[in-house]
Amino acid sequence: MFERKKKTPQIDKDQLALIEHAQQRIKQKKRLYIHFVIFLIGSLFFILFNIGLGFGNDFKILETDWFVFAILGWLFLFIYHFFNVFVTHKFMGKDWEKAQLAKLVAKQHERIEQLKQNLIKEETQIAQNEAKNRKYSNNKQNKHFELTLIVAAAENDAIGKDNQLIWHLSNDLKRFKTLTSNHHIIMGRKTFESFPKPLPNRTHIVITRQENYKAPEGVIIVNTLADALDAAKSDKQPFIIGGGEIYREAMTFADKIELTRVHHEFEADTFFPKIDMSVWKETENVLHEKDDKHNYAYSFITYERR
Ligand SMILES: NC(=O)c1ccc[n+]([C@@H]2O[C@H](COP(=O)([O-])OP(=O)(O)OC[C@H]3O[C@@H](n4cnc5c(N)ncnc54)[C@H](OP(=O)(O)O)[C@@H]3O)[C@@H](O)[C@H]2O)c1
Repeated sequence: MFERKKKTPQIDKDQLALIEHAQQRIKQKKRLYIHFVIFLIGSLFFILFNIGLGFGNDFKILETDWFVFAILGWLFLFIYHFFNVFVTHKFMGKDWEKAQLAKLVAKQHERIEQLKQNLIKEETQIAQNEAKNRKYSNNKQNKHFELTLIVAAAENDAIGKDNQLIWHLSNDLKRFKTLTSNHHIIMGRKTFESFPKPLPNRTHIVITRQENYKAPEGVIIVNTLADALDAAKSDKQPFIIGGGEIYREAMTFADKIELTRVHHEFEADTFFPKIDMSVWKETENVLHEKDDKHNYAYSFITYERR
């Protein structure tokens, strides 16, 4: 009834591996020792054969008895064996490979875990931003300012290349200055970095996902568009001045677009989103032909939300 329980050995896997490793090392060293003894005896035999019994007395290499070369050759093999046991197998044997592999796998696991955590963090951040933006667009009725997108875009909606503007139209710059002076200008980090220095008479609000982004004094740094709008709430007409990423995000709840349409097509890497005419209505459109100072014809167009 009360059968005695069979005792199971209390050795874990690591201990077992250590024992196996130790046994293997002992075997390797034993073999090396035997090799050494055989080498000594073998060398004595060579000498005995050659000098004692006169075997191959006439055979010399470089005026030297053959047994010297035979012993040297064997000695070389023995040294190779010795090196294998004490260097190669000790540091780079199968166990060493296994340990390296385990380390590598552990590192990969760690990295995957870190990426997962970052992804969760980013997803949470995106969800929070979207919620903030939704809150902002739902509250549009109560808001007391007119959010205006100001942009110069080509016929193919090109707005920039290599973080620079593509054309120089002095009247467009003048219009930009007139409209935005004494207002808050909201921009993406890349657009901000395309300026040599902050523009005078305007409050700059720069959007970035970076936590410790450094900017000159007076420049407001925020992490979301919703926070940018919060920072500009004292202004009756804050401007979104680009670039492509920020226009796309702000287009869904902006009230007005001040567009300079440049009547030409350009190669670019940044584009203004398509203006959906079921959402926007054109309220002003003034064409300017090209002249000495302007290489392209352009139109100043105002759109208001329907
Ligand atoms: N023709 C025009 O009227 C006009 C006007 C303005 C700019 N541009 C041109 O447009 C190009 C730049 O536009 P772009 O689209 O490459 O860059 P951008 O919109 O100026 O800036 C993009 C950066 O803004 C930050 N950002 C974007 N969305 C965000 C969000 N939801 N939350 C937090 N941060 C956010 C990120 O900064 P971090 O990477 O730091 O996180 C992102 O890398 C340049 O070529 C410029 O010359 C043209």
